[in-house]
Amino acid sequence: MQGTASGSVKPGQDDAAMKNGSETIIVRDASQNDWRDVRQLLDEAGLPVADLGPQQLVDFLVAERPGTDQSETLGIIGLQRFDQTALLRSLVVSQDDRNSGLGRRLVSAVEANACCAGVKDLWLLTIDAERFFESLGYKMMSRESAPDSIRNTQEFSGLCPDGAYLMRKVLDP
Ligand SMILES: CC(C)(COP(=O)(O)OP(=O)(O)OC[C@H]1O[C@@H](n2cnc3c(N)ncnc32)[C@H](O)[C@@H]1OP(=O)(O)O)[C@@H](O)C(=O)NCCC(=O)NCCS
Repeated sequence: MQGTASGSVKPGQDDAAMKNGSETIIVRDASQNDWRDVRQLLDEAGLPVADLGPQQLVDFLVAERPGTDQSETLGIIGLQRFDQTALLRSLVVSQDDRNSGLGRRLVSAVEANACCAGVKDLWLLTIDAERFFESLGYKMMSRESAPDSIRNTQEFSGLCPDGAYLMRKVLDP
């Protein structure tokens, strides 16, 4: 998947780059120009896109393999913020790049961003990646325990099936 290499890298959250074998992968803020790649990755993974568009990528990150002319988008992750609470969403790593630590790296980067923005309480919905998130400190929660801000998201109220797991992590400041 090709995309432009625009956007800023956050050195504190990412050390700018990760060596994956012999290659360098960067994690940076998403921009509206990333929308096509974001939508494609979400579509391929069967994750919700109906409530997203170029304007909603403000708190999204993309992982990419830089290229001379074009970069390749390998993964994405997003946040929907509501003061001190946020929904972590839209985590996808492209099929060919899974199991090399990129998923964990994206979660860690978005948690760092959330922390910087004053978020203390992170929630997410997942259909079958609950073990992955458990390994990163997320706990299974009942749907009734979700705060209104999370309940009112389209992901919670309609786009994710009722059988999706709801998980939460309280962030250390
Ligand atoms: C979940 C996902 C992002 C993980 O990305 P990744 O880059 O492969 O993850 P990492 O390489 O950082 O971590 C790999 C570890 O997580 C585990 N893991 C990955 N996906 C998993 C899943 N769906 N369920 C359980 N464990 C999973 C691997 O077994 C591996 O475990 P190990 O380190 O003990 O061997 C990726 O599988 C994906 O894009 N899935 C489709 C979309 C999705 O389910 N997103 C989550 C909902 S928002």
